[in-house]
Amino acid sequence: MSERETWTSRVGFILAAVGSAVGLGNIWSFPFQTASNGGAAFLVVYLLAVFLIGFPAMLGEFVIGRRSEQNAVEAFRSLGFGEWSVAGGLGVVGSFVTLAFYSVVGGWVLSYIVGSVTGAYLGDPGAYFGAVSAGPIAVATHAVFMALTIGIVALGVTDGIERATKVMVPAIFVLIGGLAVWVSTLDGASDGYSYYLSPDVSVIAGDLAGIVPSAVGQAFFTLSLGFGVMIAYSSYLGRDDSLPADGSAIVVVNTLVALLAGFVVFPVLFAIEGAVPESGGAGTAFTALASAFSQIPGGQAIGLGFFVVLLLAALSSSISLLEVPTSFVVDRTGYDRTPTAVGLGVLVAIAGVPTALDTGILGWYNDVVFNLLLPLAVLVIAVFVGWVADDQLAEELDLGSSFGDDFSTVWLWWIRIVIPVAIGGTLLLGIQSLLV
Ligand code: PFF
Ligand code: NA
Repeated sequence: MSERETWTSRVGFILAAVGSAVGLGNIWSFPFQTASNGGAAFLVVYLLAVFLIGFPAMLGEFVIGRRSEQNAVEAFRSLGFGEWSVAGGLGVVGSFVTLAFYSVVGGWVLSYIVGSVTGAYLGDPGAYFGAVSAGPIAVATHAVFMALTIGIVALGVTDGIERATKVMVPAIFVLIGGLAVWVSTLDGASDGYSYYLSPDVSVIAGDLAGIVPSAVGQAFFTLSLGFGVMIAYSSYLGRDDSLPADGSAIVVVNTLVALLAGFVVFPVLFAIEGAVPESGGAGTAFTALASAFSQIPGGQAIGLGFFVVLLLAALSSSISLLEVPTSFVVDRTGYDRTPTAVGLGVLVAIAGVPTALDTGILGWYNDVVFNLLLPLAVLVIAVFVGWVADDQLAEELDLGSSFGDDFSTVWLWWIRIVIPVAIGGTLLLGIQSLLV
C-alpha cells in the first residue's frame, strides 16, 4: 500500500476546502433564499448559524481528521471509538447520495454554458430549461459532469484535488468579482441591491419556525459539514497548521462569495421588468436568469461568465463529495485510488439517473437533507468531539494554533453545550415543518 498523501502547502489545503465550500449552495441557492426570506433579516440568522454553529463544528471535523489521519469512517476507529464509525458511515452515504443530485444540476450548468455560447436559450428560456433539465440531455450532461469529477479525484489528493482547486478557486473569485462590477452598471442595479438586502423583519417573525431550520441547514451545507468532507480533507494536513486560523479563513471567504453572488444575480434580474421569481423552485434561478441574460446589453457574455463560475464552483465541490467514499475505500482496502474513484463515480452516476429524468426528486432531497440529515450529522459529531473523545481532541486543536488555550477551552464548552442545544432546537423545528 502506498504512503498516504498530504497537501503540499497550507494554501493548498485552504483552497481545496474553500473549493468544497463554495458551490451551487452559495451561487445558485443562497441569493434566492435570502431574497425570498426577508433579505438582510434572513442574512442575520444565516450569519449567526455560520459563525456560531458552523465554524466551531467545522473545527470539530478538523480535529477528528487531523488527529486520526484517516477517512471519515476509519477516523473514529483509529481514535479508539469503533462504535462511532457509524457516524462516518452516515457521511459516506450522505456524500454519495448528495453527489448524485449535485451532479445532475452540474449537468444543467454545462448545458447553460453551451447555451450561452450558441445563444440557444435566448429565444425561449423556459423551453430550453425543460429540454436540458430532464430527459436524455440531462442524463448526458450529468454523465459528463461526473466524468470531470472522477478525472480530478482519480489523479490524487495533490496532483488532482489540490492542483485543480489552486486554479479553480482564484478563477471563481476573479470572475465573480468582475461580474459584480460589470452588472453594477446595469439599469436595475440599485433596485436589485435593495430587494436583495432590504431587511423585512416581518417575514422572519411570521415564519421563524420555518426559516431557522433552513438557515441552519443552508449554513451546514454551504460549509460542507456533516458528510465527512472536512474530516477527509484535514486528514491530509500537517501538525503545524493552525486549525482555527485556517477554519476562519475558509468560513469568511465562503461567506464573501455567497454575498457577492447576490450582487451579481439581483442587478441582472432587476434590469428586466418582471424577471424576479416569486419563489425559487429548483429551476426558477436558471429560467429567470436566462431570460434576463437574453434581454440585457451584453447578456450573453455575462451569462457565459456566470455559468462558468457556477461550473467551477460546482466541480470544486463535487470532487470533495467523491473524495469521501474514495478515501474510505482506499484507506480501508489499500486499493489503488484511480480504479476506486472510477468505480465509485460510475455508481454515483447511475444513482443520479432517476433525478436526471424527473427533477421532482430534488425537492424531496432538499427537505430531508437540510431539515433532518445535516443537523443530525453535525449534532453527532459535536457530541463525539465534546463528550466522548474530548481530551485528545481539545489538545489537537491547540497544536499549531495561533489562537491560544483560552480559545480551545471556550470552543470545547461551546461544542459540548451550545451546539447540541442549538441543533436540538433546530431539529425540532425542522421536523415540525416537515410534518405540516
Ligand atoms: N458546500 C457545497 C455548496 O455550497 O454547494 C456543497 C457541499 C459540498 C455540501 C460538500 C456538502 C459537502 F459535503
Ligand atoms: Na466548490
